[in-house]
Amino acid sequence: MRTALTDMLGVDFPLVAFSHCRDVVAAVTNSGGFGMLGAVRFTPDQLDEELSWLDAVTHGRPYGVDVLIPTQLAGRDEGLSADETAARVPAEHVEFARDLLLRYGVIGNGDDFQLRPAAAVQYEEENVKALLDVAFSHPVKLVASALGVPSPELVARAKSGGVPIAALVGKVEHARRQAAAGVDLIVAQGHEAGGHTGEITTMVLTPQVTDAVAPIPVLAAGGIADGRQIAAAIALGAAGVWTGSVWLMTEESETDAAVREKFAAASSADTMRSRVRTGKLARQLRSSWHDEWESAGSPGALPMPLMEMISDSAFQKIGQAAAAGSPEAYSLQSYFVGQVVGMLGSVRPAAEVVYAMIESYIEAVARLTEISADN
Ligand SMILES: Cc1cc2nc3c(=O)[nH]c(=O)nc-3n(C[C@H](O)[C@H](O)[C@H](O)COP(=O)(O)O)c2cc1C
Repeated sequence: MRTALTDMLGVDFPLVAFSHCRDVVAAVTNSGGFGMLGAVRFTPDQLDEELSWLDAVTHGRPYGVDVLIPTQLAGRDEGLSADETAARVPAEHVEFARDLLLRYGVIGNGDDFQLRPAAAVQYEEENVKALLDVAFSHPVKLVASALGVPSPELVARAKSGGVPIAALVGKVEHARRQAAAGVDLIVAQGHEAGGHTGEITTMVLTPQVTDAVAPIPVLAAGGIADGRQIAAAIALGAAGVWTGSVWLMTEESETDAAVREKFAAASSADTMRSRVRTGKLARQLRSSWHDEWESAGSPGALPMPLMEMISDSAFQKIGQAAAAGSPEAYSLQSYFVGQVVGMLGSVRPAAEVVYAMIESYIEAVARLTEISADN
């Protein structure tokens, strides 16, 4: 199959898989798709290690790296350090989190609750630059940025290295801005997607973005877990698809066991967009964490990265307690996931997911062709 994406990235099938796990990235790349490693949680040294491993196991097949460059971030304009930013977290919020964890038995009476200032470090300009330095020292075939327009330096650097640059957008205006900045590939990410996402659904967003930025190729993202949805995306004018949630339920993914179990049991109605995990609206599995933070007695969400300084630390403890068998911690446990969670009832090898997607895409196209021939 040939589209502007398969030509740009040198892949057999126009499928991009976003994952924070190198094993998923490798498995998709080695099965004819394109693995995109989310770099945000790695230090530059860790990223170098991950990419060296990918180089060894993908044997020249193409993969890419994704970084988060938020346009708006509390404390950044004032040049605050991570610790100075952490000092902006109101005591009321820390107390609310501590009390919540105490009530659910995640921490004991004498236990302290510490913020995680490192949540701010991951977005610092020097850190993102260092991650990109590492990425460009490996044979990456695509770099992507989410949550804002990439800087002119990043665009120039990618272009001088011959590496295309992609950006995620949730609105037509954002797509136009990215196109003007020189981005080579636009990912139209709809409301139903897992992670940070906007108001407009993939079905409505994709054709509008395609029209607005032509001839720049567009990928549809959000709500895609099988080949029928890929066929629909191609029909909407996309050159391929960008997927995230589906890979959380693969054998190669490091998804927490309790999260996986909750995903398997969840329906598409069990996700919500909420600010109470990162400070920006992100789609995730609804849990008691959300019910508590969105209740009348809650002090409410803080902006990014302040909210992450609380939730990263809290979810580390929640994960440990849930793994140790606490039902209360289990009820709090949650992770980012899109509405396609309702289609993800079992855990499969990533290659099997890729092949099933290709097969169901072929079937969907055959069905459409048959219908057209009959008329
Ligand atoms: C667990 C999770 C984490 C994500 N983290 C990022 C990220 O760091 N950078 C990014 O560009 N997109 C991120 N996304 C969004 C994905 O790249 C992708 O656009 C989205 O998952 C597509 O929708 P789907 O989940 O319905 O497949 C994340 C998605 C999920 C599910």
